[in-house]
Amino acid sequence: MDSIHTSDRSPHAGAHDVSGFSAEFLRLRAGSVLCWLATVDDHGMPNVSPKEIFCCHGERELLIANIASPQSVRNIKAHPNVCVSFVDVLIQKGFKVKGAAVVVEPGHPRFGELEFPLQQMTRGAFPIHSVICVQVLGTEPILAPSYRLVPGTTEDSQARAAQAVYRWPRP
Ligand SMILES: Cc1cc2nc3c(=O)[nH]c(=O)nc-3n(C[C@H](O)[C@H](O)[C@H](O)COP(=O)(O)O)c2cc1C
Repeated sequence: MDSIHTSDRSPHAGAHDVSGFSAEFLRLRAGSVLCWLATVDDHGMPNVSPKEIFCCHGERELLIANIASPQSVRNIKAHPNVCVSFVDVLIQKGFKVKGAAVVVEPGHPRFGELEFPLQQMTRGAFPIHSVICVQVLGTEPILAPSYRLVPGTTEDSQARAAQAVYRWPRP
C-alpha cells in the first residue's frame, strides 16, 4: 500500500491538490455512494459494514458519520486499525484506505469541525452520534480486472456493462 502522497498510478498520479488526497482519489470518492468500513473486535473477528456518509477532510483524514454503527465504534475503541474501501460501481474503480481511527464524540474539541461536513451531506436528516475519524496512512487503487485483462476497456464501456449488470434503469 502506498503512502497517501504517492497513492495512485492513474493518469492523474502526482496531481495532488492541497488536501493531500490525489485528484483521482477525490474523483472516485465523489463517485462512490458507499464506503465499507472494516474493523476487528477483541477476539480478532473482522466486521465490515457500509457507510454512506463519509468524506475527506483536510490533509489526510477520512470522516465517517456514526449514525447506526455500534459494533464499528466498539471495535475502533478497542483496536484503532481500520480498512475502508469504496468503489464507483459504474466505472468500477475505487480505493482502499488503511489507517488508524478514533471515535470523536460530542464534547471533544474537534467534534463540531468534524461533524460539520457530514451534517452538510445529511442536511441534518440523521443524528450523528459521533464521528469516526480515520488518519489515512496509505491508499491503494481498486480496479475492475477488465481494465487490465480486456483490451479496449474504457470507463464508458465499463459503465455501460455495469448498467446492464445492475439492470438499471429497470424496465
Ligand atoms: C446504504 C446504507 C448506508 C448506510 N450508511 C451509514 C452511515 O453513513 N453511517 C452509519 O453509521 N450507518 C450507516 N448504515 C447503517 C449501518 O451500516 C448498519 O447499521 C450496520 O449494521 C452497522 O454495523 P456496525 O455497527 O458493525 O458498523 C448504512 C446502511 C446502508 C444499507
